[in-house]
Amino acid sequence: MPPSEGASGDGASEARAAAERTFETSSEEETRRLGERLGKALGPGDVVGLIGDLGAGKTVLAQGIVAGLGGREDAVSPSFTLVNVYEAPLPVYHLDFYRLGREEDVESLGFRDLLDGRGVVLIEWADRVPASLPGDRLEVAFRRLDERRRALRMRALGPAAARILERL
Ligand SMILES: Nc1ncnc2c1ncn2[C@@H]1O[C@H](COP(=O)(O)OP(=O)(O)O)[C@@H](O)[C@H]1O
Ligand SMILES: [Mg+2]
Repeated sequence: MPPSEGASGDGASEARAAAERTFETSSEEETRRLGERLGKALGPGDVVGLIGDLGAGKTVLAQGIVAGLGGREDAVSPSFTLVNVYEAPLPVYHLDFYRLGREEDVESLGFRDLLDGRGVVLIEWADRVPASLPGDRLEVAFRRLDERRRALRMRALGPAAARILERL
């Protein structure tokens, strides 16, 4: 049950603050496993934005997500192809906007067609194109604590994303 909205005792509706959870990992393997967990919590139409510097672990998490969704191939960094499609029980669209200059470039990609609600959409460098993304998405912001430790702050920007965090 999504508890994001509902009537409280006095009949007023409650708008909850955006849900947020922070995880810490100490190795690539731990981040991959966290991605697997996240993948198992995702459903059709879910959008996950990955934000963080080069080497933060965005692709590692994406690989785990694909595995958690039952995909068999490794998710290689799609920097040169812009979008990789993985055949899992749900299709997974893995995009990398590192090389993208402007929001208009996103529009010209037919990116909107990927947001048709049938698959799961993972976007590296989501912070480069905020205006092109659906409002209801999960944002994962990576912070490098040291060589091997990463803090991953997951923020739900809408009700569907909040449900992901509840399932996680
Ligand atoms: N805790 C960790 N989580 C993820 N990657 C880590 C971690 N510690 C070290 N690494 C290393 O950091 C790099 C992350 O690479 P990658 O996922 O491709 O980054 P990005 O896609 O954000 O540019 C890999 O070389 C990986 O081995
Ligand atoms: Mg990457």
